[in-house]
Amino acid sequence: VNWSDSERAIITDIFSHMDYDDIGPKALSRCLIVYPWTQRHFSGFGNLYNAEAILGNANVAAHGIKVLHGLDRGVKNMDKIVDAYAELSMLHSEKLHVDPDNFKLLSDCITIVVAAKMGHAFTPEIQGAFQKFLAVVVSALGKQYH
Ligand code: HEM
Repeated sequence: VNWSDSERAIITDIFSHMDYDDIGPKALSRCLIVYPWTQRHFSGFGNLYNAEAILGNANVAAHGIKVLHGLDRGVKNMDKIVDAYAELSMLHSEKLHVDPDNFKLLSDCITIVVAAKMGHAFTPEIQGAFQKFLAVVVSALGKQYH
């Protein structure tokens, strides 16, 4: 993957201002609400009975923060993203058995929540760089599936 200077600057900038504690919980809970089949992996998280329960679930919130921080390794390793996600890819495939299509769904929820937060500052150029970054991470997360 080739990154232009402007794409690198945009990604670094977005993550340096990222409010992990806000965006993480919102993105994961949105994913669980919009794509309810993703809930099956989180049966140990307690009450996911309806949207209100999911939005108020502390385990979901904590895991959302953890997942969002999972993107940091990509930001820090933009030139070796596949290597950076080898271990997480293995975990999600071999141990957690998460269908890799779901990575894209969660990444779209992250985009939507970041866009809602940034408002007009989320220009097409910024969206392009951000979604390119997420697409590369999603692809890397799918690499250990066979
Ligand atoms: C665990 C990242 C997508 C299900 C994790 C962990 C990270 C992570 C960092 C913690 C690993 C550890 O504790 O060592 C990501 C990233 C994703 C993604 C960056 C995509 C952008 C998904 C999706 C699902 C999922 C789509 C399910 C639909 C899980 C589960 C765990 C986990 C069940 C273990 C939770 C537990 O602690 O019980 N993920 N993940 N992940 N992930 Fe993901």
